[in-house]
Parts: sequence; C-alpha cells; structure tokens
Amino acid sequence: MNILRFLSSALIALACLAQQREYKAKDEKIPGDPVAQPVAYSHKKHAGELGLQCTMCHPIPSSNDGMLATFPKESTCMGCHTSIKKDSPEIRKLAAHAAKKEPVPWKRVYHLPDIIWFSHTVHAKEAKIACTECHGDVSTREVLFQEKSIAMPACMSCHAARKAPNGCDTCHSTQ
Ligand code: HEC
Ligand code: HEC
Ligand code: HEC
Ligand code: HEC
Ligand code: HEC
Repeated sequence: MNILRFLSSALIALACLAQQREYKAKDEKIPGDPVAQPVAYSHKKHAGELGLQCTMCHPIPSSNDGMLATFPKESTCMGCHTSIKKDSPEIRKLAAHAAKKEPVPWKRVYHLPDIIWFSHTVHAKEAKIACTECHGDVSTREVLFQEKSIAMPACMSCHAARKAPNGCDTCHSTQ
C-alpha cells in the first residue's frame, strides 16, 4: 500500500468518525462456514465441470432497473433435470418446488443491509469486475461459503484503488 493511499484511507476513517454516526466494523468470518442449502446444488459440477456460464443462472441486467444478480428460475434447472438424474432424492426435492411453482428457499451467502446501494450492473457489466473478485473461486466449490469481505472497508479500499467515488452518499443515499 503506498503512503498516499494509506493517508487517504486514514482521512476517510477520520471523516467517518466525524459523522454523526460512528462506523462499527461488521462482524464477518472469512472464510465463512459452508452454507447448507435446501437442495444439494453444486457450482463445481455445473459451472466447473459442465462449464455453464454464470450469467445463464444469474443474468446481470444491462440497465440499473434491477440491481440484483438474482437466483435462477426452477424451470432453468428443470430444462435438464426433467430427464437428468430425475430419480435422485435431491432432484425430487427440486422438482417438487418446480411443480408448485415456488422458488427453492436458497440460503444467502452474501447479503448487504437494505440501506446500502449496490449494483451488479455497475460492477460486473460496466466496470467489468470479475465475479471471482468479490465471490472467490465459485466454479471450484461444491458448497458455497463467504470467501470475500463485503463490509464497508472492502468496498472503500477498492473504490480508492480504482478511483471510484468514495463519498458517504455514494453507498448511503440518506447520509
Ligand atoms: C464488486 C463486487 C461484486 C462483483 C464483481 C460481483 N458481485 Fe455478486 N454480490 C456482491 C454483493 C455485495 C452482494 C450482496 C448484494 C446485496 O445483498 O444486496 C452480491 C450478491 C450476489 C448474489 C445473490 C443475489 C443478489 O443479487 O443479491 C449472486 C447470485 C451474485 N452476487 C452473483 C454474482 C455473479 C454471477 C457475478 C459476476 C457476473 C457477481 N456476483 C459479481 C458483490 C459482487
Ligand atoms: C445444462 C443442464 C443442467 C442444468 C441447467 C442444471 N443441471 Fe443439475 N446437473 C446436470 C448434470 C449433467 C448433472 C450430473 C448428473 C450425474 O451425476 O450423472 C447434474 C447434477 C445435479 C445434482 C446432483 C444430483 C445427484 O443426485 O447426483 C443436483 C442436486 C442438481 N444438478 C441441481 C440443479 C439445480 C438446482 C439446477 C438449477 C439451479 C440445475 N441442477 C441445473 C445438468 C444440469
Ligand atoms: C445452473 C445454474 C447456476 C450457474 C451456472 C451458476 N450459479 Fe451461482 N447459484 C445458483 C444457485 C441455485 C444458487 C443458490 C445455491 C447456492 O448458494 O449454492 C447460486 C448461488 C450463487 C452465489 C451466492 C449468492 C448469495 O448471496 O447467496 C454466488 C456468489 C454465485 N452463485 C455465483 C456464481 C458464479 C460466479 C457463477 C459462475 C462461475 C455461478 N454462480 C454459476 C445457480 C447457478
Ligand atoms: C473490486 C473493486 C470494487 C469493490 C470491491 C466494490 N466496488 Fe463499487 N465500484 C467499483 C468501480 C470500479 C465502480 C465504477 C465507478 C465509475 O463508474 O466510475 C464502482 C461503483 C460503485 C457505485 C456507483 C458509484 C457512482 O456514483 O457511479 C456504488 C454505489 C458502489 N460502487 C457501491 C459499492 C459497495 C456498496 C461495495 C461493497 C459492498 C462496492 N461498491 C465494492 C469498484 C468496486
Ligand atoms: C463504497 C461504499 C461505501 C461508502 C463510500 C461508505 N460506506 Fe458506509 N457502509 C457500506 C457498507 C457496504 C455498509 C454495511 C456493511 C458494514 O457494516 O460494513 C456500511 C455501513 C455503514 C455504517 C453502519 C450501518 C449504519 O448505517 O448504521 C455506517 C455508520 C457507515 N457505513 C457510515 C459511512 C460514512 C460516514 C461514510 C463516509 C465517510 C461511508 N459510510 C461511506 C458502504 C459504504
């Protein structure tokens, strides 16, 4: 870290303290524990071995109307699994959700408080930051776990490095 960058993060920290609300670092365990999912879906199998594209299941919108990467529709899975492994207990669970047209209740791995403004379109599409930079080596993981910090210092240090805006109102519209 060069001295200017260090000084600027120190200044940001000071500015933060000067605000009415003090920032308390969020509790994060990195790497986190594997997150058990209701259906034993594997990124290693699908994105790694089968080579399916991330955006097949997480289509990042090209405008900021939707800011999320989203989860795939059960019909996307059933395109293959009405025939592949249809008798496996895990695929039966998946098929039961699909038949009821209800989403599989996937457990979240990365989640920001609702008050934070974050857009996959801006980061993954426009700034062309690879998924691995914020989510780690997903396509080699059987079960996902949190590999990268999404707490404020992680956001701000990349913003400082890439000369992206770092004022409080960038990510906190109400500050
Ligand atoms: C600059 C960091 C960054 C990059 C790059 C990034 N993500 Fe994310 N991702 C996040 C953060 C932060 C969250 C939590 C968002 C929230 O809770 O609002 C998240 C959440 C998600 C989610 C959960 C659903 C959602 O939309 O909140 C999925 C799925 C996801 N990311 C997939 C991807 C994929 C696929 C790529 C590459 C095309 C990618 N991400 C690139 C930071 C990033
Ligand atoms: C392009 C086709 C394709 C899509 C789309 C697809 N899968 Fe798969 N899936 C496979 C193949 C191939 C296997 C490996 C089957 C084998 O081991 O013989 C597999 C294996 C699995 C298994 C392990 C089954 C077992 O008992 O071994 C689960 C669970 C699974 N997929 C869930 C999902 C879910 C959930 C989705 C949607 C998010 C999905 N799949 C989308 C092709 C697909
Ligand atoms: C066949 C569909 C499929 C493909 C392809 C796929 N994913 Fe996923 N992804 C899922 C499903 C289903 C979940 C929810 C279960 C889980 O977390 O494993 C998920 C969850 C995630 C999450 C956790 C989101 C959160 O906050 O809970 C991230 C990050 C993610 N995927 C990134 C990627 C990346 C990066 C790629 C490409 C290397 C990729 N995915 C390819 C179906 C897919
Ligand atoms: C790996 C680097 C990186 C990380 C990590 C990162 N960002 Fe960014 N962010 C960028 C870049 C690059 C831009 C694009 C700046 C531009 O368009 O000039 C950006 C833009 C943004 C913008 C839009 C700013 C504007 O006014 O154009 C917001 C809001 C934002 N990021 C929030 C976040 C949040 C919240 C996090 C943490 C959860 C985060 N970012 C993590 C690199 C990153
Ligand atoms: C690049 C994005 C980004 C910028 C810029 C940013 N924050 Fe944050 N901030 C976050 C994220 C993400 C969280 C939630 C995760 C956490 O607590 O670390 C957060 C959480 C907080 C919290 C705790 C949650 C709350 O609202 O009570 C405070 C206080 C805070 N920020 C103050 C500030 C101040 C003051 C500034 C300006 C010096 C600032 N932030 C600039 C991303 C940002």
